[in-house]
Amino acid sequence: MSKVCIIHGPNLNLLGSREPLVYGKITLEELNKQLISYGQKLGLEVETFQSNHEGALVEKIQQAASYDYLVINAAAYTHTSIAIRDALLAIKIPAVEVHISNIYQREDFRQQSLLANVVQGQIIGLGVLGYRLALDAAAYFLQGGKSID
Ligand code: DQA
Repeated sequence: MSKVCIIHGPNLNLLGSREPLVYGKITLEELNKQLISYGQKLGLEVETFQSNHEGALVEKIQQAASYDYLVINAAAYTHTSIAIRDALLAIKIPAVEVHISNIYQREDFRQQSLLANVVQGQIIGLGVLGYRLALDAAAYFLQGGKSID
């Protein structure tokens, strides 16, 4: 079974209580549960990881050899972290960048992603649905580009 790691960056552990108008009401625990079960339906083994620490995120990305696909919401590090960008460049597996909010409709400092041109694609502004769409993409590409029923 193909393995996908979903990586959540800083403050996403506060999902559900953090700015619910922007990020929604679902907790990270519940979201991860739903994503693992959605992944199973798509034939994917989904692992999730969250850290508030840049170095821990870099180390997780470096372990990507044990996965077939990465889904990453680097949260605020998206806009600042050359280290996370370099880690994504160093690994050989594809990654998709997810943001719950539409970063292009927000403050200027959020409108640049240092990861955008080192990931396969971005899914932005669709709320937590973006993570499911990222798993759809993973299944699509890992299963030979076949369409999903
Ligand atoms: C975010 C957007 C970032 O700008 C912000 O720092 C986050 C969450 C999102 O999912 O919309 O923490 O990545």
